[in-house]
Amino acid sequence: MAYERVLKGGTVVGHDGAGIRDVAITDGKIAAIGENLSGGEVIECTGLHLFPGCIDTQVHFREPGAEHKEDLETGSRGAVLGGITAVFEMPNTKPSTSTVEALEDKLTRAARMHCDHAFYVGATTDNAASLAELEMHPGVCGVKIFMGASTGNLLVPDDEGLRAALSSGRRRVAIHSEDEDTMEANARLAREGDVHSHYEVRSVEAAVKSTTRLLKIARETGRRVHVLHVTTADELPMLAANKDIASCEVTPQHLTLSAPEAYDRLGTKAQMNPPIRPSQHAEALWHYLRMGLFDVVGSDHAPHTIEEKAKPYPLSPSGMPGVQTLVPVMLDHVAKGRMTLQRFVDLTSAGAQRLFQLRGKGRLAIGYDADITVCDLSRKVTLTDEMMANKSGWTPFAGREVQGFPIGTIIRGRTVMWEGEVVLEGAGEPVRFDETIRSS
Ligand code: DOR
Repeated sequence: MAYERVLKGGTVVGHDGAGIRDVAITDGKIAAIGENLSGGEVIECTGLHLFPGCIDTQVHFREPGAEHKEDLETGSRGAVLGGITAVFEMPNTKPSTSTVEALEDKLTRAARMHCDHAFYVGATTDNAASLAELEMHPGVCGVKIFMGASTGNLLVPDDEGLRAALSSGRRRVAIHSEDEDTMEANARLAREGDVHSHYEVRSVEAAVKSTTRLLKIARETGRRVHVLHVTTADELPMLAANKDIASCEVTPQHLTLSAPEAYDRLGTKAQMNPPIRPSQHAEALWHYLRMGLFDVVGSDHAPHTIEEKAKPYPLSPSGMPGVQTLVPVMLDHVAKGRMTLQRFVDLTSAGAQRLFQLRGKGRLAIGYDADITVCDLSRKVTLTDEMMANKSGWTPFAGREVQGFPIGTIIRGRTVMWEGEVVLEGAGEPVRFDETIRSS
């Protein structure tokens, strides 16, 4: 039987380990995995690794409202250049994605995107009643709650608001967990012009207090929650003890950068929320990562321009780009022996599949969408600002040599990126979810 396309001779990394196989694609789906498969088009993959398409479940692409920092086109360009096949985008745009109109507007704009995509709906202090309906809209990956203020004006700071939001709807809710009251009380700790004070203001206590409140109310309301970008050693045993209701995310930057070194070297480019913390926290994140605590790795891609970042702390905004560097930075950790290829697959695709119940995605298996990230694990690349597609034009990993690099991004069977070139534009589609699909 001849298939439309065959990726030949690559090492497929999946749930049965890693082995040399051909992958055949027909009609955008994986049609066969095996040996000696033939197809109309053959893509030679000898020496390369094939992963289930990597999914970034936390990005901020700034459109609408702050397109001078990033937009859905440039953000998704960075994604596919970085081997990412789908992104879940955050609601803290202007206007925030907290009404059906704002959501439909974003989905219309998303037709320009190069990768598949879904959008979070933002909880506010007054939209709790509509969240149950909003989360069921096609193209929505779930509700997002900011318990502590960050970029934009989305915020649900108190238990009452949190309880109302968690009581409306059924799907897993993504949470930015830092306690607003604690951070407000800590604001006096900010030293003007000294970004090192960022992690004193956004303290360990703020994260622990917030996550404690969250887990209590999640259990009370019976709601599944997803704790984004976990940063403190102190929260890890709590999350482990509540694994039945709480999933969690770690970012490449919290695993890779630590205080004070990152702030010494990068200044406000290292400023993000929750903050980069001293190395004992990163070590604890690694320890728990190896025990399987984290379900997904997300980049929290949150660009701000160099000019905005150059403002003296605390006027400088929080956030750093990351969608294009997630795969290479994590593959480098694999090359350095810090995690296995199977863990990489779990964190970049299987985890998203499991938590968000993706329909037909997130697994390199027959019948699934042919979303494949093709990587050269021996290639060494020094990451630079110039390589970045994000509009703000920088990466906190500039100057870092990584081993392992995405060289192809295949989405629903079509090559979107190959060897650093975007070869198919604007072909992204909304991701589908088992929990919200109504027909087909
Ligand atoms: O550092 C951050 N920046 N953390 C967030 O939670 C939001 C993000 C942004 O949108 O700039």
